[in-house]
Amino acid sequence: MNKIVIHGARLLSGNVTVSGAKNSIVALMPASILADEVVILEGVPEISDVYALINILQIMGAKIHFTKGVLTIDPRGVKSIPMPSGKINSLRASYYFMGALLGKFGKATVGLPGGCNLGPRPIDLHIKGFEALGAVVFSDKDVMYLRTKKTKLVASHIFMDIVSVGATINIMLAAVKAKGRTIIENAAREPEIIDVATLLNNMGAKVYGAGTNEIRIDGVSKLHGTKHFIIPDRIEAGTYLAIAAAVGRGVTVHNVLYEHLESYISKLEEMGVQMTIREDSITVHPNCDLKMINVKTYPYPGFATDLQQPITPLLLKSYGQGELIDTIYERRIGHISELKRMGANINIDGYRIIMDSPSELKGAEVVASDLRAGASLIVAGLIAKGVTTIYNVEFILRGYDRIIEKLTNLGADIALVDTNNKVKLEERGGR
Ligand code: EPZ
Repeated sequence: MNKIVIHGARLLSGNVTVSGAKNSIVALMPASILADEVVILEGVPEISDVYALINILQIMGAKIHFTKGVLTIDPRGVKSIPMPSGKINSLRASYYFMGALLGKFGKATVGLPGGCNLGPRPIDLHIKGFEALGAVVFSDKDVMYLRTKKTKLVASHIFMDIVSVGATINIMLAAVKAKGRTIIENAAREPEIIDVATLLNNMGAKVYGAGTNEIRIDGVSKLHGTKHFIIPDRIEAGTYLAIAAAVGRGVTVHNVLYEHLESYISKLEEMGVQMTIREDSITVHPNCDLKMINVKTYPYPGFATDLQQPITPLLLKSYGQGELIDTIYERRIGHISELKRMGANINIDGYRIIMDSPSELKGAEVVASDLRAGASLIVAGLIAKGVTTIYNVEFILRGYDRIIEKLTNLGADIALVDTNNKVKLEERGGR
């Protein structure tokens, strides 16, 4: 298995450009099969989740071409065939094929999703939405079977018990061709939801209110092809902002939208991080003596749960006592034990993560338990004195496009190394 080796405590400077949003592209690709013509997605990140979804789409009969960030999907040969759970459970977002296949064919057989280990990750809200639209859903072992009772789905008024990104998107995918007007109340408001709605509307759908907590969808009979440029990855951007604040002496992060990170940036400013914010870039100025803060995660536009792990090593460099509470995933703590091995003064008290800083981080051998825990260990390794070796890097390469190359260009001493300790070139998509 590959590993990442970092010689830490070096100051970084220069420019880094954020790639397209992972949590957008993993929904846009399944959504493309709803079209009866070719869909072209631009600004696509070269991450392993994209390659996994390309593989699934090809098995379904789509024709795919992917080069230089441009992904061309011809869905005209797609059939609603049973999805191989072996392929499907490699990533949680594969559940979007349920909504897309149900929306297009009125039936779907999909393996239950996999994805990061963040504790229980049910899909009951997705199923509630599909059943409200008139589908019959049952599961046998690790496969979900979804069928419409009538010839096609029928619009419905759906109230989401919990704000759920995935369920909001999945119900949108199923409803765009349903008969009548579907209303989703208490919908999630993440920018990725707006991005999917934009693609669907450019394909001829009628989706109104994406980005608010009430989305209205008027079903249409046909969806045509289109071209769509995906939004920047706000979580990747937030990760580089944390790195720039922790070990930077003047780093500019390009292709970042301030409005996607308002709550996160205000917390960085609360710590004393000095930044210059422009229309699509942010420069983090050298800083020292940062102040510890308290962090609580919330659905968008609150502080993103996906950024609580990457910001933690920066918090550990600051001065004072603080606590972090993840209200979305209380068990999103896979990074804590590894940070403690690096010398962090960080503990778990119930659902609170308590820190007493600054902690002098030292290089160590650590294991990534999930995507953002892995990102947290990279940030910690860049801060720590000595050598940090990170295992299970496949998690990290799922969601960070060319992270080794981008950090090397900023002056980091970081390498992807194979089991024979030979430096590996970071292949596209971490393959
Ligand atoms: C999306 O996951 C993201 N993944 C996650 O990012 C992100 O952490 C999460 O939203 C929250 O923002 C993708 O977009 C592919 P949810 P999703 O449904 O849709 C509960 C990353 O690191 N829930 O918004 O699966 C659930 O357990 C990944 O990029 C139900 O109870 O998350 C959680 O507590 C990790 N029943 C809360 O809702 C359901 O049917 C929010 O989950 C669905 C969710």
